[in-house]
Order: sequence, then C-alpha cells, then structure tokens
Amino acid sequence: MKKTVKDIEVQGKRVIVRCDFNVPMKEGVITDDIRIVSALPTVKYLMEQGAKVILMSHMGRPDGEPNMKYTLKPVADRLSQLLGQEVLFVSSPVVVDENVRAAAESLMEGQVMLLENVRFRKEETKNGADFAKELASLADIFVNDAFGTAHRAHSSTAGIADYLPAVSGFLIEKEVEFLGNAVENPKRPFLAIMGGAKVGDKIPVIENLLKKVDTLIIGGGMSYTFFKAEGLEIGTSILDEDSLALAGELVKKAQAAGVKLLLPVDVICADAFANDAKTVVADKDKMPADMMGLDIGPKTVELFRQAIAEAETVVWNGPMGVFEMESFAGGTRAVAEALAESKAVTVIGGGDSAAAVEQFGLADKMTHISTGGGASLEFLEGKVLPGIAVIEEK
Ligand code: 3PG
Repeated sequence: MKKTVKDIEVQGKRVIVRCDFNVPMKEGVITDDIRIVSALPTVKYLMEQGAKVILMSHMGRPDGEPNMKYTLKPVADRLSQLLGQEVLFVSSPVVVDENVRAAAESLMEGQVMLLENVRFRKEETKNGADFAKELASLADIFVNDAFGTAHRAHSSTAGIADYLPAVSGFLIEKEVEFLGNAVENPKRPFLAIMGGAKVGDKIPVIENLLKKVDTLIIGGGMSYTFFKAEGLEIGTSILDEDSLALAGELVKKAQAAGVKLLLPVDVICADAFANDAKTVVADKDKMPADMMGLDIGPKTVELFRQAIAEAETVVWNGPMGVFEMESFAGGTRAVAEALAESKAVTVIGGGDSAAAVEQFGLADKMTHISTGGGASLEFLEGKVLPGIAVIEEK
C-alpha cells in the first residue's frame, strides 16, 4: 500500500503537489475541466489541514521552451473559481526563479499557489536532476496526484521524489484502487471492451487482459485489421497493416486462454469519411469494396449488449466507431448506455471512451472514469508507472 496525504503531518508545511492539469483548450478557454475538478479533493484536504500548497503541472507539449500558448494561467483562474479562493499564479519562463521562491516562502497556511507549466523547462521531460532539485527546494513534502502523467518519468513526477518525502494524493489512490481492483480482483464474469483505430497501440493491453478476462470484445477501427487477418474484404476501412499477423495471433491466444472473443458481426459502411456520407449496413463478410466501415451494426450492438448484461466487471477502452460524427456514434452510444444500465462494476479507461461517455451525458452512471489516457492504458498493460513507483510504501 502506498502512503497518502493522510499518512503524514502537513500542517504548516510547504507541500508541492504534481497534478495533471493538461486540459483541452480552445482559443485560451478550457473546454473540459474534469482533470481540475478531480484534483480538488487533495487540494481541499491540504488547505483544510493548514498546509501551504504549491501546485504544479504540465500543459501540452511546448518542447522545453517558454510558450504562452501553453501557460497555466487559465487553470489558475478556473481553480480559483472552483476553490472559492484566489490561487496565486506566479508565472516564470524558467518555472522557478526568485519571485516564485519568495511567493512560496511567504505562503500562509491554507493558501494555494500554482507554478507555470513545468514543460517550459527542457530538463523536465528528461527527468533532469537539477530541475527536480529546484522544484523540491520550494517545499517540505512532495505529493503526486497526477495519475494522467504517472506513466512519465519526469522531474516533476518522479525525479523530485529523490529529494523529498513522497506520498500520493486521493486521485492516484482512487485510480489505482479502481483500475487495479478491476483487473486483479474482478467480480466475474469479467469483460473487457477494446476499441479505437490502431491494433498496434492496444496489443500489450489486450495481451495482458487475455490472461485475466472471461470475455473480450474487440470493436471500432481495429476490428477491420482482425477481419483482414481472417481474409475478409474490408473495402477502404482503416487497416493497421503492421499488426495484421499479430491480430491473427491474438485470436489464437484468446482461444488458448479460453477467453470468449467477440468481434463485430455487422458494420455500418460509408462511401466517405463524412457525417453525410451514403451508408449501408453490411454483414462483416459482405462489406462493399468501395466503402469503409465507420461503426458497428445493429446485430453487433445486440451481441455486445448481451455480453455487457451478463458481466459483473467491465473495463472499456476505445470507441466502437467514429463517435465524433453523429451518423457513426450509434455503436459507441449503445455500449455506453448498456454500461450505464448494467449492475456491473464499470471502469472506463480514459481518453476517447471517457470523452464519449461525457458526450452522451452518462458519466455519473459509471463506477469509475479514469483521468488517464496513456497512463490508464499502461496501467492496464500491467506496467509499473514511474510516478507511482516513487511513492513511499506504508
Ligand atoms: C495526457 O494527457 O495523457 C497526459 O497529460 C500526458 O501528456 P503527454 O502524453 O504529453 O505526456
């Protein structure tokens, strides 16, 4: 068990907290603040306990240069609103300078400040020791609560723990509990639903889950690679050519492991990658050569719905079709609705499936929605995440 903020005395101490405030932005405006909201329990707890709170995060990929397109100022403003208290934002092109140091030193108990985007420094993503030391010198304790960035070994997520006692915040604790329990200790039947375009990206996760699940659904763009591996016509559908052989092997591995593998049985085919394209529903062995599959068909929806209804634990990662276009959102919506109705423990790996569940207004019907995209995938692969490895054991 990892130590959390509850296992240490924080009153009067300066506590530096790594959050993942890498939120989607459009023209300087935050379009989804779920990652900020998810950080609040830890921040509020520290404030209530009388800690002096220093928050830090990255935003986007500014390539180690100060670039105000990626400033965390909008996050500071949103945090101030959500906390009902001003969050001091001391922007520096080098993240830590004399002004920042002075602000950190004069923080009062219960006050909160936010540093500038840690990726303004090129050392950050290289886990540079000097930058980790600079960050550590601002505080007495390091709290990692950035689950979404826990798969990165960077100065602010891992290196800093060489210089300060390191504990986790409540978000990391919750993510590890839900994702970890779902995979290691599932109520059975255990169903995993994998989607998305590229098989290659998901192979390690599928391989790990094959050792654990009772049923595996493969839908979305990657199913066409499996169809092709079976020798079927897939028209102009997306094909992950490099993973063709691996797709065939995964089918054999599922058989050997006694896992029930469900692939789509019918497909919504379109004559163009466009919401107003001409469409037909085709069985998987009758896809027209001049069309592309963009969503699962109605028979598949029924098949997948039934598997979900029978499951006691479901982990879902990756959409069933191009859900960003209304004409091809039906399959993903049906899966999300089936999960919302189900009595099972439902865990949504972050990224696109989390966005889909939000888009359909079903987020509060799920047991847990991960705030990590890449991080939740690596966690489901069974990897040790560097940002979690550095947290002290109880
Ligand atoms: C994410 O959005 O997955 C995390 O914030 C990590 O971002 P990165 O892929 O740029 O490291």
